[in-house]
Amino acid sequence: MSELTDFLHTDEPKVLNFPEGVTHPSDPVSWALELFATNLPEADMQSRESPSVKQDSKLTYFDQKDPASFERFKQRIQNAQPVHGSLSLIDSCSGDGTIRDNADWARQVYENQFVQGLAECHPMGGYLRATMWASCGDHRYEAHCDLFDGFLLHMSGQKRVRVWPVPNKYRQRVIFNHRDFKGRMTSKPIDFELEPGQILYIPSGAMHEVIAHGEETAVSVSFHMGSPFPMLTLCTQLNMMVQGGKVSVPPYMKKIDKFNLFFFEPTRFIEKDRNPDDGMPDRLLKELSGVLQSKQVDLKTMRRMLSNWWRLAMSRPMYQGPYPERVGKLSGSV
Ligand SMILES: [Fe+2]
Repeated sequence: MSELTDFLHTDEPKVLNFPEGVTHPSDPVSWALELFATNLPEADMQSRESPSVKQDSKLTYFDQKDPASFERFKQRIQNAQPVHGSLSLIDSCSGDGTIRDNADWARQVYENQFVQGLAECHPMGGYLRATMWASCGDHRYEAHCDLFDGFLLHMSGQKRVRVWPVPNKYRQRVIFNHRDFKGRMTSKPIDFELEPGQILYIPSGAMHEVIAHGEETAVSVSFHMGSPFPMLTLCTQLNMMVQGGKVSVPPYMKKIDKFNLFFFEPTRFIEKDRNPDDGMPDRLLKELSGVLQSKQVDLKTMRRMLSNWWRLAMSRPMYQGPYPERVGKLSGSV
């Protein structure tokens, strides 16, 4: 495993230095502006009418279809007004996906730092998304949490990231969603002042808020990765294995929207010395079989199905992404 991917599935936020061999583009702000200029329709840009920390400062989104938006964005960057832009550079699921043409820097980091460790940690396949962020003028990106473990590689300017470590009661949940922002912010937050050349590791499910401050534009690239498995996709896959099984979840788990969807992270339960042929690890088996429902399948058969699914999942990339197929890709931060 590479140095960075050793941190996957760990629970504490941490600051690290860029590993040997990773340097950032020599002029990160120009690099970022160039990427925005050539990919404007796919970028996400927002500004605030007044700096910062003021909770009620109004957020305005730029119209990406209007070519003039780029100049307006650039001007705000040059004048250090509160502005923020992001652009997805890599979007890949189980090795299948897209890398933006002019994102060579991100591609190299992806290939040299993440590909191998991600495959080892997520043998069923995983999702990886790299996103470029540029912001300044005390722009505040509101508190939220992501489904994936994230590494924020910081390149220029100063960024203050406030992270609320995942409270214990959420760490212990086998089946989870990320709806309860308030509950996830009951831990004592930690403030990280990021300098260029540093990486912040933010565990999945940890709430965080980001403020770009100081004179210079803050440019960073995040790499989010993992294989949170939707309960609804598990049902679909189990029903393909047993004809007429009609395996389902309770109604409260059927809501399909970003924060109400329920997941489990199978790769967190991999035991080093356990042979996949021994079936699904006990704790996971108990929790899943306690929730899954079917009039046609008794508990013993359900457990056998789950163990068969586990054997398959540990031997091939059958991960399809964080959202059930019929939902498609949901917008917003991963
Ligand atoms: Fe985030």
